[in-house]
Parts: sequence; C-alpha cells; structure tokens
Amino acid sequence: MQKIKIGVLGCANIAARSVIPAIKSIEGFELVAIASRTKAKAEQFASRFNAEAVEGYQALLERDDIDAVYVPLPTGLHDEWLNKALDAGKHILAEKSLAENYDSCQKLVTKAAQKGLLLMEDFMFRYHAQHAFVRDLISRGEIGEIRLFRSSFGFPPFPPGNFRYDKALGGGALLDAAAYTIKATQLFLGLDVEVKAATLHYDKALGVDVYGGAFLVSKQGIASEVAWGFDNFYQCNYEIWGSTGKLIAERAFTPPPDMKPKIILERAEKRVEFLAPNDNHFINILREFHRAIVENDIKIHLEETLTQSRLLESVRLHDSTQRESLAIH
Ligand SMILES: NC(=O)c1ccc[n+]([C@@H]2O[C@H](COP(=O)([O-])OP(=O)(O)OC[C@H]3O[C@@H](n4cnc5c(N)ncnc54)[C@H](OP(=O)(O)O)[C@@H]3O)[C@@H](O)[C@H]2O)c1
Repeated sequence: MQKIKIGVLGCANIAARSVIPAIKSIEGFELVAIASRTKAKAEQFASRFNAEAVEGYQALLERDDIDAVYVPLPTGLHDEWLNKALDAGKHILAEKSLAENYDSCQKLVTKAAQKGLLLMEDFMFRYHAQHAFVRDLISRGEIGEIRLFRSSFGFPPFPPGNFRYDKALGGGALLDAAAYTIKATQLFLGLDVEVKAATLHYDKALGVDVYGGAFLVSKQGIASEVAWGFDNFYQCNYEIWGSTGKLIAERAFTPPPDMKPKIILERAEKRVEFLAPNDNHFINILREFHRAIVENDIKIHLEETLTQSRLLESVRLHDSTQRESLAIH
C-alpha cells in the first residue's frame, strides 16, 4: 500500500485524543512530524507519538518529505494556514469548520482544484457504520418514505477562554456544533438542500453566536429542522420521520470506538432498539482521505466542502435576529 507521509499543524486535543492514534494505527500513513507554535510544546507532543518536533507551522510546510497535513487549528486560522499548505503542495485534512465564510472556502477550493490537491473537511462522523445501518433500515422500507429530518447537537458551556468563544479565531456555535447537523441533513436529504429560515443567538459580550436553529428544504421538498448550542442540555442525535415509522440515532456524531450506538425504530405496532456496530470513524475518514489522494479522486470532496460552507453562510444570511435588526424582510 502506498504510504502517505503526513504532518500535523498544532498540538490540539482532538489530534492527541483521536486523530493521531488513528493515523498511527493504519497502514497507509507515516506520521513524520508535528508542528507547534512553541518548540517545547512540539517536543513534548511529538515524543508521545514518535514523530519529529517542528517549531512553527511554516517550517513543517517547507519540508519535502511531507505529502499531506492534518490541520486541527481553530477555524479562524484556516484561511492563512490552508492557503500556505496548498501553496506548499500539500494535501489537506482540515478540522471542521474548514472555512470561516464562503468566500474563503471558494478560494481555497479553487486553489486546491487548480493544484490537483485534496482538501477535505474532517467530518469523521459520517464514516461511522451506524449511518449505513440506518440507511439499510430505510431502504428495507421500515419507515416508509422520508417526510422529515431533524437533528440536534448541543452541550453545556466550555470553560471561559476556549477558542470557540473568540470571534477572531472563528468562534461560535454555527461553525462548530451546527455544522454537524447541517452535514447530517445532506447525508439523508442530499447536497441540494437550501436554508429557508434560521436564527442565531449571540452572546453580546463575546460577540459570537452560542445557540440557534435552522429550517432547510431539499429539492424534493423534504424539510430538515436542526438546532444546536454551546449552552444547552446535551443532545447529539438525528431523527428521520417517515410515512410509516421513525428512526432515531441517539449518539449520531460522537460515538467512541467501543460503543455500539443505539438506533431506535418506532412503528405503530412495534418499538425496536438496535445496537449498530461499533466503529472508529476517525480511522474510516483517514482511509477515505488516503483513497482519494491515491486515486486522485478529489472533486467530490471539494464539492462537498463548498456545499457545506455555502449552507453555513446561508444560515447567517437567513438569521432572523440580524434581519430584524437590519430591517430586511
Ligand atoms: N472532528 C472532531 O471530532 C473534532 C472534535 C473536537 C474538535 N474538533 C476541531 O478541531 C479543532 C481543534 O479543536 P481542539 O478542541 O482539539 O482544540 P485545542 O486543543 O485548543 O487545539 C487547537 C490548537 O491550535 C493551535 N493554535 C494556534 N493558534 C492558536 C490560538 N491563537 N489559540 C488557540 N489555539 C491555537 C494550538 O496548537 P499549538 O499551540 O501547538 O501551536 C492548539 O493546540 C477545532 O477546529 C475544532 O472544531 C474536531
């Protein structure tokens, strides 16, 4: 199997907890180096994973022995570092949300396409086997025809100082929790959904949105109701309501590798709780990242990235609170 030599920009928690262990556990990658803003942090982090420590992200990008980078930086830093990584000829797996706004995303996608480089957003959850399990129940007619999609992703507040509360770093719940529910909508209703209404609640002191909701409609006229937040009772689910039944995925976005996520099927005559297979979606998305690079199959990922960013931007444009304050009707 072709080995892709990979580097990491930033000693992020998610990198240490899930992504680097996944990189190390599969054949197609060789973890070469990890860069941090500071030398001491890079050394401490890289030694845990038997990789080379690099001081400064640019120094890592300048290396010829790295084909691809994993970028778990806050979204507000992506425009700068994803552009630099593409300029350096690297394929990119970037943490969600990949871009702060549609303009930035479009420019990055255009550059990646021109250079023939893969630019992929790390929405690992969609590579979990539970969604294929749900699809299979739908295709076997267990809920009839799909009438509505609903999804919620929200959790209690992070400690103060977290980058998700920092506007300059691309903070806010829309680019974080909401992004999952909008991506999940596309998994079941297709890429050609449109946002019809939305609301974002801003923390005025922080200047970032902390909870909200949106209403989307697919080309076939099927609706999706999604809601999210950073100051909410924990929810991490989707529900698909059909003409004859309903399916609920209770742990839709974050099942740990050893968990068999519960899928509930409700019909008039029965309620069944299935346990979908446990799976490691961090490994699965890396396998897809590897395949797409080796087979030069980048177009679909660029298209999906762009659609996601367009929808997030569209939520902002439809935000009823802003529209009211700007007197746009
Ligand atoms: N896909 C998923 O399942 C998942 C889950 C959680 C988070 N995420 C995403 O992954 C990314 C990282 O999240 P995390 O929770 O792991 O964050 P984190 O631990 O705070 O890591 C962010 C990293 O960015 C670097 N950085 C550079 N400039 C920074 C600045 N001004 N402020 C803060 N950090 C800065 C730091 O690396 P150095 O100091 O080493 O340079 C830091 O370690 C985010 O985009 C988040 O949305 C994805």
